[in-house]
Amino acid sequence: MATKASIITLPNPTLRERSHKVREVTDATRQLVHDMESATLDWEASRHHELGVALAAVQINRLERVVVIRNDFEDKEDRSFLALINPEVIQTSGKPEYDHEGCLSVLDIYGLVPRYPAVKIKALNLNGQEIRVKAEGFLARVLQHEIDHTNGLLFVDHVTDKNGFFHLNEDGHLQAIPYSSVEASGILSESL
Ligand code: NI
Repeated sequence: MATKASIITLPNPTLRERSHKVREVTDATRQLVHDMESATLDWEASRHHELGVALAAVQINRLERVVVIRNDFEDKEDRSFLALINPEVIQTSGKPEYDHEGCLSVLDIYGLVPRYPAVKIKALNLNGQEIRVKAEGFLARVLQHEIDHTNGLLFVDHVTDKNGFFHLNEDGHLQAIPYSSVEASGILSESL
């Protein structure tokens, strides 16, 4: 069974690898999705102020293009997820907007990241059927973040400002952290 201990974190180099396309959706794929959901919920159980929003397979060390996204971002009691196999962005609209992001694979660091305000994606569902999802706002941001994972990219790669990194305080508020400490943590692929 997958737990929060199954989640790999930067600077683990696997997170920078491109995941492989799923050729056929099988029981093994559904088991992988189940493991990803368990790991996310187990992680969440250890956090007071956060919801386990989404996870990509690479984050439990499986280089397959699979992501899971929480169906309800507001309600911790709703423990269900949407699974997307081989997801890809097919259309973006609007100008990128900045907002804070975190990641289960980036310990205790948050960043200001630009994302398109609206996207259209296509993917396979757990029955192997093609589906399309149109999203805006936070869901659009989450989809871009997760699809990035399948391509070996992390949110820290999109932070463009040395003042764009934060910690979460014990009271749940974000506080800017010095760029030197981010650089020293070894999570950046290149310095700003
Ligand atoms: Ni992430």
